[in-house]
Amino acid sequence: MRVPRVFHWLLIALPLASRAQDAPPPIVVETAHVSLVLAVGKNQKLYQTYLGPRLATAADYLPLPQRHEAYPPAGTDNLFEPALRVVHADGNPGLALGFAGVETAQTSAGATTTTVRLRDPKYPVEVQLHFVAYQREDVIKTWTEIVHREKKPVVLTNYASAMLHFEAPHYWLTQLHGDWAEEGQQQESQLTSGVKVLDTKLGTRAGMYQTPSFFLSLDQLATETTGDVLAGTLAWTGNFRLAFELDNEQALRVSAGINPYASEYTLPAGQPFVTPEFIFTYSTQGKGQAARNLHRWARQQGGTLDGTQPRLTLLNNWEATYFDFDEPKLDALMGDAAKLGVDLFLLDDGWFGNKYPRKDDRQGLGDWQPTTAKLPHGVGHLVQTAAKEGIKFGIWIEPEMVNPKSELYEKHPDWVLKLPGRPEDYYRNQLVLDLTNPKVQDFVYGIVDAQLGQGAAYLKWDCNRMITNGYSQHLGKDQSHLYVDYVRGLYRVLDRVRQKYPHVPMMLCSGGGARADYGGLKYFTEFWPSDDTDALERVYIQWGFLNFFPSNTLASHVTNWNQQQTLKFRTDVAMMGKLGYDIEVAKMTPAELQFSQQAVKDNRRLGPVVGQGDLYKLRSPYEGNQAALMYVGENQQKAVLFGYNLRTRFHETVLPVKLQGLDPARRYHLTEINLMPGQKSALPANGQTYSGDYLLNVGVLVSDSDAKALTSHVLELTAE
Ligand code: GLA
Repeated sequence: MRVPRVFHWLLIALPLASRAQDAPPPIVVETAHVSLVLAVGKNQKLYQTYLGPRLATAADYLPLPQRHEAYPPAGTDNLFEPALRVVHADGNPGLALGFAGVETAQTSAGATTTTVRLRDPKYPVEVQLHFVAYQREDVIKTWTEIVHREKKPVVLTNYASAMLHFEAPHYWLTQLHGDWAEEGQQQESQLTSGVKVLDTKLGTRAGMYQTPSFFLSLDQLATETTGDVLAGTLAWTGNFRLAFELDNEQALRVSAGINPYASEYTLPAGQPFVTPEFIFTYSTQGKGQAARNLHRWARQQGGTLDGTQPRLTLLNNWEATYFDFDEPKLDALMGDAAKLGVDLFLLDDGWFGNKYPRKDDRQGLGDWQPTTAKLPHGVGHLVQTAAKEGIKFGIWIEPEMVNPKSELYEKHPDWVLKLPGRPEDYYRNQLVLDLTNPKVQDFVYGIVDAQLGQGAAYLKWDCNRMITNGYSQHLGKDQSHLYVDYVRGLYRVLDRVRQKYPHVPMMLCSGGGARADYGGLKYFTEFWPSDDTDALERVYIQWGFLNFFPSNTLASHVTNWNQQQTLKFRTDVAMMGKLGYDIEVAKMTPAELQFSQQAVKDNRRLGPVVGQGDLYKLRSPYEGNQAALMYVGENQQKAVLFGYNLRTRFHETVLPVKLQGLDPARRYHLTEINLMPGQKSALPANGQTYSGDYLLNVGVLVSDSDAKALTSHVLELTAE
């Protein structure tokens, strides 16, 4: 058989004599420090023979045992979780997959792509396993494509993006769980036999209770700096399923993909079914390194939009006004934003609707015309005011949703997801639009285009409810495509938006942090981790999300949610992420205003360190009453260190924190920043210069030694 030129066995320098003549060499997907090795068995099946630190000698990949079928199909000889289940056109529910070829290429971005083709020997079904290995970032991205040439459609009932196999004495899972206003809560547990599933069936506000990201520690629970750990995350803004199955022989299979719940997919011949991407990295030095790998990948390799660009600081009016505002009030707020020194004013919910003005969350959603009574001169006037003030203007939309009390609903009742013959089921008084319908996609695109077309320089895209009662009038008999096609419809809209507006910054929000995933973040510069802006709670929430997402994607606002907390504490917490404000600037004391203006300036100056630097988590709030973390900028020239006393108790010992990521051979000058006017630093390290070696091995105090709760410090480190 003639092999097309693009297909070739991956050539690695291996002595031919040492492997069976008929078996192709192992397929090695590798980065600078991580290898995933696949091998073709004599039975033509594809096995995963290795996943772990890259081995120094490629020949060592040869003798690895072939125990775990890499992407096991269901119905033939598989005993555990399948990666893929296909019901053929003739009703046969079994699939077998044999190796059919492999293709590799280099990309310009320092990545290697590998495509492995598998084929059923009896049925014309082909599966392609795609891998992109990012050398420098030590991240591998993988997804699967399924295509067939049967005479009639086949039905896919399980279609994982990836399956990975492990053999270790013990396994520990780190997950994020949550609810509204308590997102990103880190939880760790040892896996026991059987299947542990992290999933969601919520459709739109998908990640409300679980997020599609995890750490898997092998052998022992990894710490920030020690232990073997896999970090994985599924790039899908909808129903996901991560399953961890521990079998009778202590082997673990991890499958990641779209949740097949209620989602059998009927696939016509010739139309590839492309799964979402599963992104993972492997660290032998604990969770911190794994997180830094993901962060670097996200910033540098398009995991988030414009990840290496500076972020805009903003003043949002949501908590300051809720729905209660008008044009003069907004004009004044924009003046305040300029006074504060932020880049942008963000107008939140409540600016639209005329027949049913959006005066609360009960009506108007879907009618995206400015409320004339509130904004007689429209959004254009607000854009102009912002320009006069020397700032930009941004606006909130929730384009996938509708209040039944709206003109949109009256005009297009068929655009709404709802079960025929049953009462409508409301959540926040609203329903979900049917994004599987191209007309609805056009409508949603039109909303965005209208706002950006009239000068908005930033969008907050919200999504406040999940799908219940889900039924699409557009899909007809293919109702089980709803959850998949909804997300595809959403991505289609976002693709169009990004074609026309490639760089406008946008925040992804879902009633807080229910859409924290790399499927969405490809199109967004940042996400809103939680409506809970109490700074104490935010330490835990942001800590959780920072495991998987870089700091410049975590929108963190200084607000008045909890006025018992000092403005300094609230600011110090917001500055560990992407700083913003949602506060009444006019009510600040002169000292508070001066403090905040300086914080905004410092934040801008330190953006390259906090937004782009390497994160080191030094003291976890989940393990004690203090938290400390630091960011180290390029070339270890600058670093910013954050210390928080949380629920610190009377006479609780506060020890110095040993720093990480610095150059031991250089000397660093430490300056405390974010001090209230007139406040003197109480930290012994302030104004001192230490060697990196000292800071790494002895450390400094970043907490008050009298152990008051809810105090904090920010130290800037500069190499001499
Ligand atoms: C959601 C968001 C908030 C705010 C409101 C507006 O709850 O998470 O930040 O935008 O909607 O209704």
